[in-house]
Amino acid sequence: MDKRELFSLEGKKAVITGGNQGMGRTVAEYFIDYGAEVCLIDFSKELPQTAGEIQRNNGGIVHSVVEDLSHSEGRKKGFEAAMERLEGRLDILVNCAGIQYLCDAADYPFSAYRKVMDINLDAVFELSQMAGRIMLAQGSGKIINFASMTSFIAGLQVSAYTASKGGVMQLTKALSNEWAGRGVQVNAVAPGYIWTKMNEDFFSDKEASWRIFRRIAMGRWGRPEDVASVVLFLAAKASDYMTGVTVPVDGGFLAME
Ligand SMILES: NC(=O)c1ccc[n+]([C@@H]2O[C@H](COP(=O)([O-])OP(=O)(O)OC[C@H]3O[C@@H](n4cnc5c(N)ncnc54)[C@H](O)[C@@H]3O)[C@@H](O)[C@H]2O)c1
Repeated sequence: MDKRELFSLEGKKAVITGGNQGMGRTVAEYFIDYGAEVCLIDFSKELPQTAGEIQRNNGGIVHSVVEDLSHSEGRKKGFEAAMERLEGRLDILVNCAGIQYLCDAADYPFSAYRKVMDINLDAVFELSQMAGRIMLAQGSGKIINFASMTSFIAGLQVSAYTASKGGVMQLTKALSNEWAGRGVQVNAVAPGYIWTKMNEDFFSDKEASWRIFRRIAMGRWGRPEDVASVVLFLAAKASDYMTGVTVPVDGGFLAME
């Protein structure tokens, strides 16, 4: 085998949730560059325009499905529409869509807690289940979930987010245990603190963000590209003997006291 094929996604079909911006969009660009056909699912109305831009800039085929993944019906409709666009085959699912909501635990509105869990954890379960059924029937597939530093540690004002991302890491192991022997690998990536819209206000507040920044050994916030290349690795043949793991991409944050 030509070893360059280890990192190729030529002929692969991928679904990426949360692909309208941030890390999901960058992952889509990397996948296209490495040969995959991609379908993005996101609730942003701008998604068709984003998909068109990626296709113009990077070539390849980028489909889009506008759907809200925070409830079961939206997930089912969104996934079915994506599978129609990809003509029934699915090699890679990236569960990237996610939200954050900051609030002291004592005052945290339960509706906000539910919303965070709905999109960050419940959507990961249901979409993985739907993708898993197709991949198990094919005898092959790769699922990559977005975990977080809060899968390992907990911060302040992030009780729901921490619970959801701890759940993502454990769910990744549980699905992998059942499916790895049948050709389907399930892994997660745990980004450190990445400069995206989700964090813009927080990073700009030097005082608030210093507590985190001082622990980043590399001395800079992460970029979507830092994470997208690791997702690419987890989607490609190069990672064929990896499953059930959550890979931190954090500039040294977890290693620091
Ligand atoms: N930015 C970070 O520092 C960081 C760190 C660790 C983990 N993460 C995780 O990485 C993933 C991507 O984060 P990001 O920073 O790129 O965020 P982002 O806010 O830039 O992008 C999130 C995307 O998810 C979509 N989305 C949100 N709710 C949705 C819903 N109900 N239905 C469909 N789409 C929905 C948004 O429209 C958006 O395109 C998330 O799961 C996040 O929790 C981010």
